[in-house]
Amino acid sequence: MKKSLLIAAIAVGIFACSSPPKQNEKTDAAAVPEKKATAMDNPDYDKGLALVAKSDCFTCHKLNEQSTGPAYSAVAAKYPSNDSTYSMLAGKIIKGGSGVWGEAPMPPHASLSKEDAVQMVKYIMLLKE
Ligand code: HEC
Repeated sequence: MKKSLLIAAIAVGIFACSSPPKQNEKTDAAAVPEKKATAMDNPDYDKGLALVAKSDCFTCHKLNEQSTGPAYSAVAAKYPSNDSTYSMLAGKIIKGGSGVWGEAPMPPHASLSKEDAVQMVKYIMLLKE
């Protein structure tokens, strides 16, 4: 009787020790800043990022720093998130652009569909601070 109580106590002890870390992980995930989590939860974020990563964009653009091209966070801060921005910037990605951010021009990406270019812009606009 005593022996089985002891085994039961050990079993409860092991259970009690092994379960709290999982609860902590959950708490940590919930502590991620609400705004970022919202942007990344948007399906446009992953879809647009996949297209940007597949193309040559990151050779000239960084997320938060000026490179050959402007930082994506700076582009996101400059324009409102609406259909006319999506369409205007998608047009520039496809046809190329110059004179807005400095001397360096952005070369055209003529093989991109308008739909894919809009999806890329939606991702960039989700990088607003
Ligand atoms: C060879 C370098 C280069 C590559 C590759 C490149 N960009 Fe750019 N991008 C630039 C430069 C330079 C500018 C600034 C042009 C200007 O001043 O008007 C720019 C500007 C932009 C802008 C802002 C346009 C505006 O008028 O405000 C967006 C959005 C953008 N790029 C997205 C992309 C995407 C998406 C890709 C990948 C498909 C891409 N870029 C690939 C160099 C590049």
